[in-house]
Amino acid sequence: MASTPTPNRTPEIKYTQIFINNEFVNSVSGKTFPTFNPCTEEKIADIQEGDKEDIQKAVEAAKEAFKIGSPWRRMDASKRGNLLQKLGDLIVRDADYLSSLETLDNGKPYQNAYATVVASGNSLRYFGGWADKIQGKTIPIDGDFFCYTRHEPVGVCAQIIPWNFPIILTVWKLGPALATGNVVIIKPAEQTPLTAIYLAALVKEAGFPPGVVNVVPGYGQTAGAALSGHMEVDKIAFTGSTEVGHIIMKAAAESNLKRPTLELGGKSPNVIFADAEMGSALMWAHEGVMYNSGQVCTAGSRTFVQEDIYDTFVQKSVELAKARVVGDPFDPATKNGPQIDDEQFKRIMELIESGKKEGATLECGGERIGDKGYFITPTVFSGVQDDMRIAKEEIFGPVQQIIKFKTMDEVIERANKTQYGLGAAIFTKDIDKAFTFSQAVKAGTVWVNCYNILSPMAPFGGFKMSGLGRELGEYGLQQYTEVKNVVVKIPQKNS
Ligand code: NAI
Ligand code: MG
Repeated sequence: MASTPTPNRTPEIKYTQIFINNEFVNSVSGKTFPTFNPCTEEKIADIQEGDKEDIQKAVEAAKEAFKIGSPWRRMDASKRGNLLQKLGDLIVRDADYLSSLETLDNGKPYQNAYATVVASGNSLRYFGGWADKIQGKTIPIDGDFFCYTRHEPVGVCAQIIPWNFPIILTVWKLGPALATGNVVIIKPAEQTPLTAIYLAALVKEAGFPPGVVNVVPGYGQTAGAALSGHMEVDKIAFTGSTEVGHIIMKAAAESNLKRPTLELGGKSPNVIFADAEMGSALMWAHEGVMYNSGQVCTAGSRTFVQEDIYDTFVQKSVELAKARVVGDPFDPATKNGPQIDDEQFKRIMELIESGKKEGATLECGGERIGDKGYFITPTVFSGVQDDMRIAKEEIFGPVQQIIKFKTMDEVIERANKTQYGLGAAIFTKDIDKAFTFSQAVKAGTVWVNCYNILSPMAPFGGFKMSGLGRELGEYGLQQYTEVKNVVVKIPQKNS
C-alpha cells in the first residue's frame, strides 16, 4: 500500500549518472547537461550526458545480458514476473520521493505526479502477471509434421521517452519489454531525466541481472539518434512529436529495419451532443484538455458542441477555465503547473496569437503569469473554424477550442478531417449516437461519456499520423515478441 502522500519540495537528487550494466557511470565524453525546474527556470542538477559512445556501451551490455545462456535468458518466466512485481512494489514504496522528484523536474501538480507514480507501480505488477503467460500455438499443418510457434523476445529494445509523463511512459514501455524477456535501453527526455534515473537504482535493488535495463540520459539528436540508427538495436519504441516520429522511422529503415512503435501527436475531437448530461460533459471536456497543463497527446483540444447548447457550453467552460488554479505545483489547490520549457511556452503563445489573428474569439486566458516559470492562464476560444491553425495543429498547452456543429454526419466528417487519429470522445445519452460515432471516428481510443481513461490493461495508440502499433495490454505485448515457427518431422511408424 502507498502511504499518505507527503510532498517534499526539495528532494535530495541521489543519482545523476548514466546507468549501464547495473552501475552508475559518467559519460565517456565527460559532458553533462542541466535539468531545470520549470516553475523557477533554475537548474536542479547537472546530468551525465549520454552520446553515441555511451549508447554503444549500453548496447554491448544489453547484448551480453541477452546472450543465450545468460542469467536473464535462463530465468524462469515466473521469476521474471516476480522481478517486475518487485520493481512495481519498490516504486510504490518510494512513491513520495519519486512524486516529489517528478513534480520538481516536470512542474506537474504533486497529487497528479503521485497518482501516476502509483499507477506506474501497478502497471509493472500487471505486466509481471503476463511474464509466464506468453504462449504460442500448435498448428495442425498437413503432412507428418509437428508445428508449433514460440513468442520469443525481440532482443535489444530502445525506448525514447518524452517529458510530459516521464515515469509512467517509461514504465509503460519497460513493463511489456521485460515481461516478454527483452533487454532495454531507455533514453529519458532531456527536460525530465530524474525519475527514470532513480528508477534505474530500483531496477538494481529489485534484482534484475546487469545489462537487462540501461538508462542513458541525453539529447534526442545525439543519444536518441544513436539508438534509432544503431545496427544492433532490434526494436525502437518512441513517444513524442510526429516530426521526430518520421525521423525515427527513417533511421530504422535506413539502418537495420528495427521494429518501430510510435506514439505521436493528436488533435482529438471531443463531441458534445445537446442531449448529453451537461454538468458531466463540461467537466470531462475541461479536464480533457486542461489536465497536465494541456501537455497530453490525447488532449481533447477540438471540443465540438451541438448548436442548441453551444452558447451555454462556452459560457460554463469559461467559468471552469477562470476558476482553474495555476501556480505552485506543490500546493494542493493547484490544478495546473507551468509548461515544460521556454520552447513549448513560446509555441503555445504563438498559436494563441494565431487564433486571435485568424478571427477566433478569445473568451479567457492566453496570458503569461509572472515573469519566472512558464505559467499560462487556462485559455478558451469560441467561434473556432476548422481551417484555423488552432483547430489543426497540436498546441500541447491549456487551450480549449470550442467548435459549433449541427448534425451527426457533419461532425463525423469534421472530426475525421485531420492527419491525426489518437483519441476521440462523444457525450450523449443516446446509445445509437454513441455507437454510430464510435464506429465512424478514426481514432485509436474512443471514450463515451468520459475522457482520458487509460489503463495498462487496454491497448493505446493511434490511427493515421498519430502513430504505429499499439502499446499496453495484450496487444502491446505483441510488439515485443518475434513469432518463431518450428516444424518437426514426425518419424513414420513402421507397420
Ligand atoms: P520530441 O519529439 O522532440 O521529443 C520527445 C523525445 O524524443 C525526447 O526524448 C527527445 O530527446 C527525443 N528526440 C528528439 N529528437 C530526436 C531524434 N532526432 N532522434 C531520436 N530521438 C529524438 O518532442 P518535443 O520537442 O519535446 O515537443 C515538441 C512537440 O511534440 C510538442 O509540442 C507536442 O506537440 C509533441 N509531443 C507529443 C508527446 C506525446 O505524448 N505524444 C510528448 C512530447 C511532445
Ligand atoms: Mg523536439
